[in-house]
Parts: sequence; C-alpha cells; structure tokens
Amino acid sequence: MRKIPFEKTLKKTGKTVKVSGWVHSIREHKNLVFLDLRDEKDLILQVVLEKNLAERINLEDVIEVEGKVLKRPEGMVNPKIETGEIEIKGEKIRILSEAKTLPFDLRNLNLSLLEYLNWFPVVLKNEKVKAIFKIQQKIVEGFRENLKKLGFFEFQSPILCALSVEGGAEVFKVDYFSKEAFLVQSPQLYKQILVSSFGKVFCVAKAFRAEPSLTSRHLCEFTSLDCEVGFIETLEELLSVCEKILKGIFKKLEKEAKKELNLLKVELPKIPKKIPRIKLFEAGKTIFNQENLDDLDPEKEQKIFQFFKERENSDFVFVTHFPTLKRPFYTLPDPKNPEYSLSFDLLFDGLEIVSGSLRIHKFEDLLDSLKKRNLDPKNFQYYLLAFEYGMPPHGGFGLGLERITKQMLKLKNIREATLFVRDLKRVDLPLREEEKENEKD
Ligand code: 4AD
Ligand code: MG
Repeated sequence: MRKIPFEKTLKKTGKTVKVSGWVHSIREHKNLVFLDLRDEKDLILQVVLEKNLAERINLEDVIEVEGKVLKRPEGMVNPKIETGEIEIKGEKIRILSEAKTLPFDLRNLNLSLLEYLNWFPVVLKNEKVKAIFKIQQKIVEGFRENLKKLGFFEFQSPILCALSVEGGAEVFKVDYFSKEAFLVQSPQLYKQILVSSFGKVFCVAKAFRAEPSLTSRHLCEFTSLDCEVGFIETLEELLSVCEKILKGIFKKLEKEAKKELNLLKVELPKIPKKIPRIKLFEAGKTIFNQENLDDLDPEKEQKIFQFFKERENSDFVFVTHFPTLKRPFYTLPDPKNPEYSLSFDLLFDGLEIVSGSLRIHKFEDLLDSLKKRNLDPKNFQYYLLAFEYGMPPHGGFGLGLERITKQMLKLKNIREATLFVRDLKRVDLPLREEEKENEKD
C-alpha cells in the first residue's frame, strides 16, 4: 500500500490508508492510546490504538501506521487542526526510528539560550522554532522575487577572497596552499565588478566577520542580502530601491507567512509610504544636542528610533551622510561637502539592518580614496580593472538576514534567528570545554 500525505486522509473515510510521521503526543484513555502524529509541514493527525499496539512507542519516534479512516463522533471534532474531522484507527504499526526520551519538554520550551543552542538539532522540531526559519526563508524569497521583477541579475558570490574590504581586524585568514587568503566580509567587491557588465545585480551570500565579542546583534557568519544598482546617481534613488524591496518582502510575508506569524503572535510593522530620512549630523543636533556626531552606537540607534516612533509612528528610519572617513574606501563622498558621504544605515526598531551607499565609480577617484586610507592599489588591481573600462555610476546596500528576522519577530538575540550559529565561542557547539559554562546568554 502506498503512503499518503495527511491532508489526503480527509477524503478516505471508511478506507484503509498508510501514513507516517513523528509521534507528537501520547494520551492514554481507558484501553486506548491516542497518538498525535506530525508530518514535515507540522500537520497533525490523530491515531487511535489498542494499548498493546502502542506499548513501545515513545515521543518523537518516527512511525508508520496502517489503519482505517473514521469520521470522528460529533463532540470529538477538533476544528483547530486540518484533519480534525477524522482519525485513523491504527491496525498495524511499524517503528521506523526510535527516539530517546528527551530531557526537556519539546512542546513547551523553557531553555536557557545556551541549552537552546547546544540542543538545537532537536529544538528545531518545535513548531515555533521552525516558524522562525520558515519566515526567514520567505524573506529571502521576497528579496529575490522583487529584485528579479526589477530586472536584477542574480549571482553566486565567492566565499574565499584575496582581500579584506570592510575593515582589517574582523577578517578570518585562511591558509591557502601556504599563501594567505580570507573569508569574504561581504560580497561588496564582486557585486561592484559585476555592475560593469550586468548593470544591476544581487546575491544572497554568506559573509564572515571575526567579531571579537559576543553581542545580541553580531555573528561571525551571517547571511547578507546584497544588491548593487547601476546607472543611479543620487542617494534618493538608492533609498527608494531599498524601500521598494522592503515593502515587497513585507507584502510577501503578509500573504504567505500568516500562519507562522500568528503562531509567533507577531504583527508585521507598517512601513510608511516614505521612510523618514535624517542626516547623521542633523540627528546629532536635534536629538542629542551634539554638534559633531560622527557615528552611531546601539544606544544612539535606540534614541533615534524612539524619536521617529513618537513623531511619525515609524519603526524604520534612514540615517544618511556618515562622515566619509568612517565608511569604507568605495563610498562616494558628497560632492557638496566631501567630508560627508552619500551613505546610509536603515534602522528597524532601533537596530541597523541595512548599510549602503553610492559608490565611487571613477577610477582616479577610487585610487585617491584607497591612498587616503593607506591601502595599496596594487592589492586591488583585479577589482580596479572593472573601473578602468567603463563602470557606470552605481550604489548598493547589504541587508542582514538574521538581523531583519530578529527585529521583525522581536527576538532577544540574533542567535535565535540563525540556523547554525558561529560566534566567538561557538561553531555549532562551544569551541572549548570550559566555555560551555562561561558563555553568556
Ligand atoms: O554594515 P555592513 O558591514 O556593510 C557592508 O557589508 C557593505 N558592503 C554593504 C553595502 O552594500 N554597502 O553590513 C551590512 C549589513 C548590516 O547592516 C547588518 O544588517 C549585517 O549586514 N551585518 C551583520 N549581521 C550579523 N552579524 C554581523 N557581524 C554583521 N555585520 C553586518
Ligand atoms: Mg553597517
């Protein structure tokens, strides 16, 4: 007999079927045992067994059941589940895989972050934990679909590279045939190179930062939703692409992640038609009473968010025009005032989730910018080639996937929005024995 998916049992009343899944719950009632069976989509199917058939069954076992589909009596219908009108009267049981007894309640998780991460391969069976990652995958799909609609070319970004770009210290070195190579800090240089031939490009890429401390917002390996837009010349054009993509992502979630959002009791924030924009130095003057504010820290990001939440009821704000020397070498200085750059951060609920800028596209200007930062143009020879032979004006941004997920779902720590955590003290499991106790939540 062929196995059928749970949802098909509804049309098989009176017939014998075969199904399989995980044992989600076990309840005994007189001579009977009621099992809830769960499938990979988290659908639940009730199976009724004579006690003797259920003796060896444990929670999370993977089992196969053969039995008759019966309509449940009136009062026993469960409207909360899709198959709530029927149940299977199990006649034959095969245990495909036995599960050990769990030391915690999987249905009602109450773990410290440390326990949560150490038990993650099992924790992932929890419906709410799974929902986080189903929503995250929809964010990726929304990003991709919207950029494709706008005619962007998707590429696969390399992970090994010859240079560090976003800042020297936070880079992982790799022994590459006895020479030095690095793990990419961002797909930045590659997306810019591609603008010179493809015009508008994007990628969903892994990025690596040797973050020296544990915080609730930093990972050592994260996913960057990156795009680069050719033939634009103003920051406003770039901000409006960013707005459009965000709106597209939220629309996708509204349509396709309702069930998961409800399960997590999360309401999507409203994105204003136009996200408020403020120049960094203006934020300094108006919000902090400070003349020369030159960068943000978590506390300042919070304050800026609160300011705009109160005034414009917006969960989002673009902070623009960071000092040129505080941003990477490829950032375009504002021609009106070159001390400041045509750059931005997008704050969502008080946390930076996007950084972006217009880029220097003229070869000579790029050489100057490298030299100003004591970077040797020789090391950038490969990247610079693209700029010597017709590079359009362009700009782009990178959106941190785990960060947007954390903020949207109001999670306390970015690690809860990360499938496989790499941080200062952990690659899957803690790196050192003593850190099992020391790692902070
Ligand atoms: O702000 P970042 O470092 O900017 C860049 O990488 C530029 N190349 C982007 C551009 O196109 N101009 O990183 C971009 C985003 C951040 O806003 C944040 O959301 C995320 O990537 N991010 C991290 N997420 C988790 N852990 C970390 N260590 C992160 N570093 C950056
Ligand atoms: Mg940034």
